Amino acid sequence: MRDKLEQIKRKAMEAMDSLNNLDQLEEFRVKTLGKKGELTLVLREMGKLPPEERPVIGQLANEIRSYLENELSKKTAELKNAALEKRLAEEAIDVTVPGKVPALGKLHPVTKVLNELKDIFLGMGFDVAEGPEVEWDSYNFEALNIPKNHPARDVQDTFYINENILLRTHTSPVQIRTMLKKKPPIKVICPGRVYRSDAIDATHSPIFHQIEGLVVDKNITMGDLKGVLDVFAKQVFGPETKTKFRPHHFPFTEPSAEVDVTCAICHGSGCRVCSYTGWIEILGAGMVHPKVLAYCGIDPQEYSGFAFGMGLDRITNLKYGIDDIRLLFENDIRFLKQF
Ligand code: PHE
Repeated sequence: MRDKLEQIKRKAMEAMDSLNNLDQLEEFRVKTLGKKGELTLVLREMGKLPPEERPVIGQLANEIRSYLENELSKKTAELKNAALEKRLAEEAIDVTVPGKVPALGKLHPVTKVLNELKDIFLGMGFDVAEGPEVEWDSYNFEALNIPKNHPARDVQDTFYINENILLRTHTSPVQIRTMLKKKPPIKVICPGRVYRSDAIDATHSPIFHQIEGLVVDKNITMGDLKGVLDVFAKQVFGPETKTKFRPHHFPFTEPSAEVDVTCAICHGSGCRVCSYTGWIEILGAGMVHPKVLAYCGIDPQEYSGFAFGMGLDRITNLKYGIDDIRLLFENDIRFLKQF
């Protein structure tokens, strides 16, 4: 029996050396020390021994058991440790490796200028109003005092969807929508995309952007219009900028004017951008025609108003020195990146 025990110990020691994962260790533990393990089976036979030998063999068996248990737990700890080391090594992150820089988008130059213009008008107490790009003929033309067969319709070559519906040719129908919804005092700007079936060239695009302005209240005069546009022009083009009103005609304003600013490039001395005139036309404006007010249910005897409309793309080009409107719509990343 003593030999058997010694043999179990020797075999166990040998086997233990070749164990190299936790599953194998557990299997070994069950096989050797478990309830049906080799050591246990030997001990069951202790009863057959003469009584004087039992304590000796018992002690030996216990020594072997605790020795093996001890070795097993050392080995277990070693393997666990090795597994942990391995995992830590595998999962290590090198925080010094340079990251991938995400490609950042940018605002389109037209959007940037629009935001700037909005800020200027919001600063003067205007609200922002918007309207649909697909518009009633009646709001785009009739309500603005441009009846069917009026020559002004020829000036704005129109994309018709059907007889009564079109792509708006200007932002002025948003004036109508605003006045139909809200009674004075009214003070809004209406930015948006507009459409005209023009041939494409450096200064024409079938899609472009306008900002409309509308103020209606008691005692609004041409002086108010001039004051607002003067403040606006100085903020956009610089404090030394001057404005000039030239008489003009629009069916929906009376009197009407085209407004020029001193050329921001040459400051009035004359250059290619201003065709050597020193002035650049930037918008149309005037006092809202009494018929337009009346169409919207606003009494022209009691109220008056002014309106203006400008091309946002043109102002963007002037501000950034861009000489071709097509660049704004082609969306070439190399071009857009510059702003
Ligand atoms: N709607 C006019 C245009 O597109 C501009 C304008 C707006 C003129 C408001 C006067 C008043 O040309």
